[in-house]
Amino acid sequence: MTSQELRDKFLTFFRERNHKIVPSSSLLPTDPSVLLTTAGMQQFSLYLSGKKDPVEEFGNRHLASCQKCFRTGDIEEIGDDTHHTFFEMLGNWSIGQDENGYFKSGAIKFAMDFLVDELGLDKNNFYVTVFRGENGIEKDEEAINIWLEHGIARDRIIECSAKDNFWGPVSNIGPCGPCSEIHYDRGEHLGCNRPDCGPNCDHCKRVVEIWNLVFMQYNRNEDGKYELLNQTNIDTGIGFERLLSILNESSSAYETDIFEGMIKKIEQSSGKKYKENKQAFRIVVDHTRSAIFLAGDGVEPSNVGQGYILRRIIRRCVRYSKMIGIENSISLGDYIFEKYDSVYPELDGSKQKIYSVIRAEEEKFEKTLKSGLAILEKQLENSKEGVISGEDAFNLYQSYGFPLELTEEIVSEKGFKIDKVSFLESLKKHQDLSRSGAEKKFGGVGKDAGEEGAKLHTATHLLHAALRKVLGNHVEQMGSDINVERLRFDFAHTQKVTPEELKQIEQLVNQKIKESLEVKKEEMALNEALDVGALAFFKEKYPETVRVWTIGDPQASEYFSKEICAGPHANNTSELGTFKIIKEESSSAGVRRIKAILIK
Ligand code: ALA
Repeated sequence: MTSQELRDKFLTFFRERNHKIVPSSSLLPTDPSVLLTTAGMQQFSLYLSGKKDPVEEFGNRHLASCQKCFRTGDIEEIGDDTHHTFFEMLGNWSIGQDENGYFKSGAIKFAMDFLVDELGLDKNNFYVTVFRGENGIEKDEEAINIWLEHGIARDRIIECSAKDNFWGPVSNIGPCGPCSEIHYDRGEHLGCNRPDCGPNCDHCKRVVEIWNLVFMQYNRNEDGKYELLNQTNIDTGIGFERLLSILNESSSAYETDIFEGMIKKIEQSSGKKYKENKQAFRIVVDHTRSAIFLAGDGVEPSNVGQGYILRRIIRRCVRYSKMIGIENSISLGDYIFEKYDSVYPELDGSKQKIYSVIRAEEEKFEKTLKSGLAILEKQLENSKEGVISGEDAFNLYQSYGFPLELTEEIVSEKGFKIDKVSFLESLKKHQDLSRSGAEKKFGGVGKDAGEEGAKLHTATHLLHAALRKVLGNHVEQMGSDINVERLRFDFAHTQKVTPEELKQIEQLVNQKIKESLEVKKEEMALNEALDVGALAFFKEKYPETVRVWTIGDPQASEYFSKEICAGPHANNTSELGTFKIIKEESSSAGVRRIKAILIK
């Protein structure tokens, strides 16, 4: 089945069942607190929360779409069978209820009819997950019974926690609810064959999620509390590429019509085989597609927000293209335009404009890459014990604009490591040299362990999380210093933080202080801490057991901040007072510095 056939089948199925087909919205959401569109429901938020009436806008409360989505959290996983940066999501909605509205049983019936009757998938290969109950919300017995009625065996219905089966909200505030997911068993040959293998297996991708059905009943408000919505909604999302590859019995979407043309073309022009270079080929074709879609929605490469994501995607694509040995990889984009310009009108007629945006960035990067790579090669030749010294990595960073993450990726391919701690020391030395005499009086990291110090440590974690929320997840801690009077935080970000952004950051931190969030300490093994998503930056120097500090509502499924940290902390954010940023300045190339205080 081709991608176009699947899109048509889905939309026709729901059109024939009285759904209004709504075009995809842009990858740039209207909600400024969210960087990119990550789900089909985003354009319907105001309807889902009951603030607007879908019937007034669309003439129907039943909607369906094929939505352009972008998730950057998965960028390191590109190259495997199931992740993409840009992807499409097929979804159907039933917003609010009247006598025509449908909820759980309607949504499950549509899903089964479409997958089994329309597409011919064998339901014996399904697993379904349901919410097992948590945080004062009950186990979803109703969904279990409906799945049973549809002939799903009881041992194929898996009860999962809120982490996997409570969906949303996209930006921490908004409609959300328990969900039930359909997973598909792709067969033993793709499995780890452990006895506990199944949905969400940590060891293999034998079973993949294809359709998420969200039973929206709650709204998470500004205080982080869950309140019942005045209406119930159905919000669903199919991972389009995953379903397409299952229907074609291929191990991934890279072996479907979406990417096949590009992959053949790379084979021809490089003389290399896809089968022997899967990861690099996949990164190039994935990133070519996503760069075109971002530029198609008007993003231009820059050092902030969506622009930074486009820059990172293009630069990564150039590097992997070179690794395979192809020049002018952008011409591969012709295949993307052929596939998509009739689906997404914004691409139609925009090819030259999009190419010139991407080409300009490629050229910029090629220049730096050339000189930097030559230096790095030398460093690799001279390196002792497979480690690139921090000073060398810093030199590449400082003089050739090589982000640390890029150098890391290049050296790790050769089995080398970077001494990150000495990288930071070099960075710090550089900062010290350029630091004004007046500042020298301030002490080192964590010097003051008193009560004020503890509060400032907690404020630093809130600031870090707020920076990532407002500026994007590229923000990484590069240094932190606390004394009795103020905190100082250095972070990776290449552009001045604007006054509006600073205001947003400050407000977000103060909002979290007002929410009186618990600051919870847990001791755990380093690996476990990284698994649960704790932020850590200098992994190799941590002891085996670490302290993880989580700031958030213990009743909620999400937290606001989770970091590994040895420092002392406040017990609750309410102890902090008012957070105020007093200075934002450059610290060194690509690193910004914020100083902030707490006022009682
Ligand atoms: N909004 C749900 C998701 O993105 C359907 O998974």
